[in-house]
Amino acid sequence: MRLNGKKIILGITGSIAAYKAAILLRLLAKEGAEVQVVITPAGKEFITPVTLSALSGKPVISEFFGVSDGTWHSHVDLGLWADAMVIAPATAASLGKMANGIADNMLITTYLSAKCPVFIAPAMDLDMFVHPTTQKNLETLASFGNIILEPGEGVLASGLYGKGRMEEPEKIVETLVHFFESKKKLLNKTFLVTAGPTYEKIDPVRFIGNYSSGKMGFALAEALASQGAKVILVSGPVSLQLNHPLVETIFVESAAEMYEVCSACFDRCDGAIMSAAVADFTPAAPANQKVKRGKERWNLELEPTRDIAAELGRRKKEGQLLVGFALETTNELENARQKLVGKNLDLIVLNSLNDPGAGFGVDTNKISILDRYNNIAEFGLKSKKSVAADIVEKIITLIGQASNPAGN
Ligand code: CTP
Repeated sequence: MRLNGKKIILGITGSIAAYKAAILLRLLAKEGAEVQVVITPAGKEFITPVTLSALSGKPVISEFFGVSDGTWHSHVDLGLWADAMVIAPATAASLGKMANGIADNMLITTYLSAKCPVFIAPAMDLDMFVHPTTQKNLETLASFGNIILEPGEGVLASGLYGKGRMEEPEKIVETLVHFFESKKKLLNKTFLVTAGPTYEKIDPVRFIGNYSSGKMGFALAEALASQGAKVILVSGPVSLQLNHPLVETIFVESAAEMYEVCSACFDRCDGAIMSAAVADFTPAAPANQKVKRGKERWNLELEPTRDIAAELGRRKKEGQLLVGFALETTNELENARQKLVGKNLDLIVLNSLNDPGAGFGVDTNKISILDRYNNIAEFGLKSKKSVAADIVEKIITLIGQASNPAGN
């Protein structure tokens, strides 16, 4: 699923190679991409929209208005929606229209509105392909930043042998995968992320815990991995799991175990995000046997745990980034700032328990990010996945500034 979550417009024009677009669509869907097919009127003569809508799971767009309900198909919205547009096959006529802005069908208007990278896979007979008009149009399109997927040589539909066969669907998919991979901003970086609560043993059947669900930490691990980072996710007991090839999850129970694992991993990491709700106190002498009822009163002696974030802050080397969380109920900004400085963090993410929809257990969060220069970035109430993406964006900006302090 190397294109998971990617939104792709597949443009199909009127060439016999349109049958290959169905294979391409199938492969894109298999890689996890969400595909919207836009087909020209001539394209429909070569492949039926029924096949394409069945493969994409979405109605195919061809006209400016929906045929059945008369709704307006907005090429502008489509152009903004997509992460990439692939026009395969692209006929000589469509190349000419695209190069010259002749927006007389839904596909060309969508092309002109697209804000995303556009991949073009020409398909035509060899003489049409080598004609100076076609070559000039391709040059023009390449000069706009479009990526031309050169056609291959072989026997063409006309029976002639030469250059003009649409690039194979498998190769187009590989090109797209490679393109998105190269855009990832945390390639070759390794991050440590802590998540969830810790359980501090009282006796074999009881513990001191907290309400942390681990959702924020797991969302952060996924957001880092989606930018190409390797992630060591150290989690307390939660009912979540993450299957991502770049994420190694290590489950621990207590604050002491979390400390050991983090301490062993931190030196080989480029950064760490401490989102776990680590217990601050642990029973000084957990009982080996279950504590029985019948006592008048039970005083449990607690001793402080080690502060993992503060310890990593002490050990932090140049180039390592440390991000902490602060969950506060009073004096939020002041307390968060103190933790930022006291633990030698680079960023602290503040979430207030006073904000409805923020904090433990829920799927949403509302955060502010404070840096060492007293900048505060405030965000609205969002899903924890979007919050994670915002935090990771901020980390990427910080890494960029550190590697280019002069801003060149
Ligand atoms: N933290 C940690 N290890 C601990 C306690 C906290 O790594 N033993 C980290 C948390 O993961 C978080 C940051 O330190 O990133 C702040 O945690 P928080 O509980 O808000 O602050 P504390 O330092 O525990 O202070 P207090 O509970 O008194 O507010």
